[in-house]
Amino acid sequence: MTSIRTMRPDDIDAGLELCRLAGWNQKAEDWRRMLALAPDGVFVDEQDGRVVATGSAIHYDTRIGWIGMVLVHPEYRRRGIASAIMNRCIDALRDRGIQSIKLDATDQGRPVYAKLGFRDERPIVRYVGAPHRRALASPSAARPVADADWPQIARLDEQAFGADRIALLKHLAAEGSAVVLSEGDRLRACGFVRPGHNAAQLGPLVAEDEASARAVAEALLAAHAPEQQLYWDVLPDNAHADRLAESYGLTVARRLTRMVLGDVNHCGRIELVHAVAGFELG
Ligand SMILES: CC(C)(COP(=O)(O)OP(=O)(O)OC[C@H]1O[C@@H](n2cnc3c(N)ncnc32)[C@H](O)[C@@H]1OP(=O)(O)O)[C@@H](O)C(=O)NCCC(=O)NCCS
Repeated sequence: MTSIRTMRPDDIDAGLELCRLAGWNQKAEDWRRMLALAPDGVFVDEQDGRVVATGSAIHYDTRIGWIGMVLVHPEYRRRGIASAIMNRCIDALRDRGIQSIKLDATDQGRPVYAKLGFRDERPIVRYVGAPHRRALASPSAARPVADADWPQIARLDEQAFGADRIALLKHLAAEGSAVVLSEGDRLRACGFVRPGHNAAQLGPLVAEDEASARAVAEALLAAHAPEQQLYWDVLPDNAHADRLAESYGLTVARRLTRMVLGDVNHCGRIELVHAVAGFELG
């Protein structure tokens, strides 16, 4: 009998322990959001009476499914547990007819996913640091999100990402701050920042051009405590995004690989993406 089952709210402490063992940034709120977005799509593996592994499979309309939170307790690695959880995640997404299944792979995860048929799409890097205050020109023209902004936020993010993530974005806005930049009636950029265990996480940041991205970043960083660490995850195929993160004194801490399974790949418009939402979210 399989030892994999869907995750419940009372498994969150075990999920958090796996995050701490791996040095990851997620807090209880991240697990709660995952369960809210995919009540049947977050899995745990139980061995010897305890949760030793996790994996999440959320989907954004029927175009993109995103697998994340693939964590195996160090004492239980190299036994096929991650592969089994991955298969469960993939099945859950395929059962729903999701067209492309994607993830951001660490160097440890990449061989596991490659064996399951995932192929490399593009690199993704994590910038880290306490953002330089002197780079901040104030005041930014960006402002907090208002209810009336959501239809335009949904449209801009959908162009950038390749599927509708409105439910996720509303969660992120409630957990942290969300700002937009408008020009007349037209929304030019939006961005989000949320708390994390090691560092605040900036993203997604979607903008029509570099200047709009900077205005949103500055508004988000204005409320950021000067010494607080920030994670900013970028697709380097958009050189503007790299430059922007570097301009705040952030440096590359990790390099991962975005991977995809399936013949169809919805990539969105990378030139709009100035920060992704997170490795586990896309
Ligand atoms: C990556 C991780 C989830 C793998 O878990 P796991 O349960 O050990 O993986 P599996 O046992 O299912 O491995 C599947 C295959 O990949 C191979 N593999 C696993 N870890 C590997 C590694 N570090 N290097 C090379 N190959 C590896 C195994 O040989 C296995 O192949 P096999 O079936 O032919 O022997 C685990 O190491 C982990 O939790 N790491 C820390 C968190 C992390 O990086 N997660 C991935 C996020 S994208």
